[in-house]
Amino acid sequence: MQSTKKIIITGGAGFIGSHVVRRFVKNYPQYTIINLDKLTYAGNLANLKDIENEPNYSFVKGDIVDIQFINTFFEEQQPDAIIHLAAESHVDRSISNPLEFVMTNVVGTVNLLNAAKNLWKGDFENKRFYHVSTDEVYGTLGEDGMFTENTAYDPHSPYSASKAGSDHFVRAYHDTYGLNTVISNCSNNYGSFHFPEKLIPLAINNIKQNKPVPVYGKGENIRDWLWVEDHARAIDVIFHKAAAGSTYNIGGHNEWKNIDLIKLLSSILDNKLGRDEGESAKLITYVTDRAGHDLRYAIDASKLKNELGWEPSITFEQGLEKTVDWYLANEKWLDDVTSGHYQDYYNEQYTNR
Ligand code: NAD
Ligand code: TYD
Repeated sequence: MQSTKKIIITGGAGFIGSHVVRRFVKNYPQYTIINLDKLTYAGNLANLKDIENEPNYSFVKGDIVDIQFINTFFEEQQPDAIIHLAAESHVDRSISNPLEFVMTNVVGTVNLLNAAKNLWKGDFENKRFYHVSTDEVYGTLGEDGMFTENTAYDPHSPYSASKAGSDHFVRAYHDTYGLNTVISNCSNNYGSFHFPEKLIPLAINNIKQNKPVPVYGKGENIRDWLWVEDHARAIDVIFHKAAAGSTYNIGGHNEWKNIDLIKLLSSILDNKLGRDEGESAKLITYVTDRAGHDLRYAIDASKLKNELGWEPSITFEQGLEKTVDWYLANEKWLDDVTSGHYQDYYNEQYTNR
């Protein structure tokens, strides 16, 4: 795939997408990178301020659900590859509004697959459709075991069901039409530019403001956390090296019970904010559990390590500290994204929960 020249990255103004765009724009000046994003509540051009004037980068506002727009856009741009990250990504929002997840995650993905198939018309060899997905498609684990690339799909939330649907369509376009597809399924990401509806940035924001930190159920659910820049690095390697039709799991071998993670975060913030040890942890508040809450996710990323040589580059403690530092240094970003509609969302989800 080294010869690839023009790449459309969808969802490039979101959390993970902005890190992928930045990496590709900076590391591959010979590529033309087009960021296609609808700028929903989760998309934010402030995430890309540092690269917005790079000569190999451009932004186009558009909706992947809009079939006519997508077809015209592909015809005009003539991309060689797609890295598809645009999605509705938050489980709690999917419980309130599943249809929006079907539209963006399933219909939007199929629109892109069709546009790519029609543009490349059977000449798929040097083209690539890279679909970025989640480990949540595999469902939930008990106390033991890990998800491998062969684990059967068993999604439980409307979000994971919609991502599973999109993954199936991507594989179907490879098996049926020969489209050069690749899928990666990654565990929970954390890092800079993470929208504060997700656990880690929400907790940082609340602790900073001395507000209650909502922990669902007993806080015993387990997630496998990966630094977002390591995810972007994995996407880079897979994009360039993976065989057509292949799948890779990406994860940090880094499982944390939610409550232990929040306690670690509280202690880092006590230190950074000059509070007494234990002060921030007093903000922990147990709230009603999420419906259908998956107990445990854990990724076996050995295929990616053995075949393509990828491993996480930093420990969780290092990554979490970098992340806290970033949020404390970027107060304006945090204030901007938590004003306006965010307050309505927050009240809807958490008031009297
Ligand atoms: P995000 O919610 O932060 O960003 C999603 C981006 O997609 C936003 O910029 C938004 O404006 C854009 N978008 C949404 N609907 C669109 C539409 N109809 N047309 C065009 N753009 C649209 O999400 P994220 O956390 O960065 O996740 C990116 C991808 O990675 C998703 O596909 C998600 O399923 C997957 N993923 C996320 C995680 C995680 O921990 N966040 C883990 C594994 C996989
Ligand atoms: P989240 O960041 O929403 O990611 P996902 O649901 O995709 O794994 O949630 C991570 C974990 O934290 C999950 O087990 C749900 C839990 N959680 C809370 O306990 N409180 C919260 O306010 C949020 C947003 C999540």
